[in-house]
Amino acid sequence: MNITPDSSLEEKFDILRQKQAEALLGGGKKRIETQHSKGKLTARERIELLLDEGTFEEIGQFVTHRSTEFGLEKQQILGDGVVTGYGKVNGRLVYVFSQDFTVMGGSLSETYAEKICKIMDLALKNGAPIIGLNDSGGARIQEGVVSLAGYADIFFRNTLASGVVPQISAIMGPCAGGAVYSPAITDFIFMVENSSYMFVTGPNVVKTVTHEVVTSEELGGAMTHASKSGVAHFACAHEAEAILHIKRLLSYLPQNCEEEPLPVPSRQSASEPVPALNSVVPANPNTPYDMKEVIAHVVDRESFFEVHRNFAENIIVGFARLDGRSIGIVANQPAMLAGVLDIHASTKGARFVRFCDAFNIPLLVFEDVPGFLPGTDQEWNAIITNGAKLLYAFCEATVPRVTVITRKAYGGAYDVMNSKHIGADMNYAWPTAEIAVMGPQGAAEIIFRREIAEADDPEAKLQEKVAEYKEKFAHPYRAAARGYIDEVIFPEETRAKVIRAFEMLANKVENRPRKKHGNIPL
Ligand code: HXC
Repeated sequence: MNITPDSSLEEKFDILRQKQAEALLGGGKKRIETQHSKGKLTARERIELLLDEGTFEEIGQFVTHRSTEFGLEKQQILGDGVVTGYGKVNGRLVYVFSQDFTVMGGSLSETYAEKICKIMDLALKNGAPIIGLNDSGGARIQEGVVSLAGYADIFFRNTLASGVVPQISAIMGPCAGGAVYSPAITDFIFMVENSSYMFVTGPNVVKTVTHEVVTSEELGGAMTHASKSGVAHFACAHEAEAILHIKRLLSYLPQNCEEEPLPVPSRQSASEPVPALNSVVPANPNTPYDMKEVIAHVVDRESFFEVHRNFAENIIVGFARLDGRSIGIVANQPAMLAGVLDIHASTKGARFVRFCDAFNIPLLVFEDVPGFLPGTDQEWNAIITNGAKLLYAFCEATVPRVTVITRKAYGGAYDVMNSKHIGADMNYAWPTAEIAVMGPQGAAEIIFRREIAEADDPEAKLQEKVAEYKEKFAHPYRAAARGYIDEVIFPEETRAKVIRAFEMLANKVENRPRKKHGNIPL
């Protein structure tokens, strides 16, 4: 039906209804069935799951592409392959775009990119998060460079929005070629196991160039990126789980960099001791323990939301609440590689610290670190530059920063892990803390080498010197005497102490030298 000069009001309304119904079908019933048969939801179903009921307002439902190449003029689909708009998550405004694979494989055209840019511009002007649900065959091949230009327009806006509003990407289908770089610039990437993949070049090109035979899932599936590359922060079992996690993540974040996260009411005591913490650290300093146990006992019950759980497990990062207020946690994990800092742990920690600092989320650090990981692999892959990222990130962070040293704080890693010297506000140590240049054994072997070699019983001499070094340095009291540690506390007091410290720091203002921007060692 078309509008004619004689169309009645009712006919005009009918035309609108028809167009709306047509737009809701995207690429049509058959393609929706195909989408469902792959275990995937449609673009609109995903939005429905994400947003509070009845809050979605669509923008650009009738947009169509302008291309006339390769017969595209005959393939006009309302909305052109991406559903865009705004709505609410947990009562708070978000902007969303959801790529519709049923329309030309969700491929990105000039107008499709314009729709995404429009909501990104609105998000920036109004200071609310942007959530991108990705499921696309990439650049619309028939449009050529116009499509590439569209991608670049999005990349540019991703960068403008970085640090201004939270940007979250969910990958729920293909995301390949240059298209990966928009999610890569965003703050968090969620992937769905067995139905999503990300790579710069797919298995066929890989086979031609490097002769490696690899499946899409192995090359760029959810677990690959969540555990090996660290590109993805979350690997989810299915789409509904990914969306649930996105909502949970948003609950810890402010709407933009000018705001603070919303506190939630806490029903847990903020001052009672937690005796379970007294027995977490084993008597033998070389016995591992799980730092997540410490975290769980300190933060509000069940509030810890881990980020990058499967990647660089020797460091733990995630959000939590303390007496109802959002905090970011960075913690060494002695249960994995003794909690050593390596390249991946450093970059993982650095990116998280920078996110928290950008969005006014205070940082709580738990430290048990024997140092940086030695070896040619680490040195040749630039542990120097990468370790410096974590150092730099902590140094430049101006949010309230509190550190708790539970056990080892050795060498350069002591400085890096939010030490007093690089701007931490409150530094606590447990009586089990060992703050020194290195472990007693290594230290004794170096500084008493000659004496040990010349002894009648070198082993006994070594043990004597280890004991001497331990007595002098394997405790927190030298650092406390210097004021590098503000207080040595009983483990059971930790929750109450850090809650009070963050309360005390709530109005912290710290100014830094004026500059265009720093030059973090990339
Ligand atoms: C136009 C596309 C398309 C694309 C898919 N389609 N990708 N149309 N441009 N990029 C269309 C298909 O022709 C098909 O149309 C429909 O979408 C569904 O695709 P299928 O192939 O049937 O689906 P499936 O078997 O699930 O395979 C999905 C796929 C495959 C793996 C994504 O379609 C594919 O390889 N597409 C091309 C990917 C690609 O090379 N993109 C360009 C990358 S370079 P019909 O009408 O049959 O339903 C790039 C550069 C970005 O993106 C640069 C940024 C700087």
